[in-house]
Amino acid sequence: MNPPESSLFLAPMAGVTDLAYRILARECGADVTVTEFTAASGLTRKNAYSWLKVESDSRESPFIPQIFGGVIEEMTQTVEMLQDRADIIDINFGCPAPKVCRNDAGAALLRDPDRVVAMVSACIEVASVPITVKMRLGTGSGANTALEICRRLEEVGVERVCVHGRTLRQRYSGEADWSQIREIVESVGIPVIANGDVTDSLTASKCLEHTGAAGLMIGRGAIGRPSIFYEIKRDLGWTNDDPPWGDGDHAIARLWCWDRYLELSEDLYSDRPNKNLKRHAVSFTKGLPGASSMRVSLHRETDQRKLGRMVSEYLGDLARFEGIPANHPSP
Ligand SMILES: Cc1cc2nc3c(=O)[nH]c(=O)nc-3n(C[C@H](O)[C@H](O)[C@H](O)COP(=O)(O)O)c2cc1C
Repeated sequence: MNPPESSLFLAPMAGVTDLAYRILARECGADVTVTEFTAASGLTRKNAYSWLKVESDSRESPFIPQIFGGVIEEMTQTVEMLQDRADIIDINFGCPAPKVCRNDAGAALLRDPDRVVAMVSACIEVASVPITVKMRLGTGSGANTALEICRRLEEVGVERVCVHGRTLRQRYSGEADWSQIREIVESVGIPVIANGDVTDSLTASKCLEHTGAAGLMIGRGAIGRPSIFYEIKRDLGWTNDDPPWGDGDHAIARLWCWDRYLELSEDLYSDRPNKNLKRHAVSFTKGLPGASSMRVSLHRETDQRKLGRMVSEYLGDLARFEGIPANHPSP
């Protein structure tokens, strides 16, 4: 199978895809990374915590901050504030979180295609960089709106859309509906990225075949397992390069990724603790032999250096003595 145009995207994931993780995913083969969603209301009020979420580095190119909001003026102001540093700005209409949807933002807006189109058009009007959109199929009450919205967004000049094949009501339950993504691919001329339930090379190949999408976005399948990007490219025949971890099996890949994440996070967050470290530590060890007792110790540890070393030693032992089974459950 030929590589699709835009290939493999690391999905934006709040609390997971911090800058160090995004750079790591790229080193493992992800072609595109996007920041976690950031509230336009926080950015326009110059909230320091919100601005930390949209930090980047020269190793992340293109740099794509993702924003969300319910107030059009705040969204356009945010685009103006970000566009000097961003290569593309992505707008989120996929978040199912009640605190986001209550404010008429995220996936809740899919019930009102006119408002989505008005918001995106207003952003495009002030933007000097391309605008992309990530959305779900619809809200799950009434007919799905993604197809209509994608058609109209193409008309107003959106560069690319990414569709998660679930509704707001489904949150993460059931299976992603790739057929509805295919319908969208067949109805618009802009690139459509398929998202939902791609967890390995087999599902990647099935999803591409089923949807005809220009690329795939991978979320949960890349948590604790950034090597998935290299594995897909290797198994689908898109790369002949050696992986950055050299010769080795799953255990060696996992260990290399963890140690590299620690290195990147020391480099990038030298002035502050890494708020995602514990979560990543749990994800990198999930489903592996002895992981549940390890998790208890991880939760107790408050020193980030010690926590990092604990996981390195644990994965190192597995790499040396046991090997990690190829089909351990993904997080
Ligand atoms: C922990 C977590 C955080 C997420 N945060 C975001 C986010 O900030 N922005 C966004 O557009 N989607 C977010 N998502 C949704 C994912 O980007 C993706 O659409 C979803 O997980 C489906 O893809 P998957 O089946 O590959 O996981 C999040 C998902 C998870 C699991």
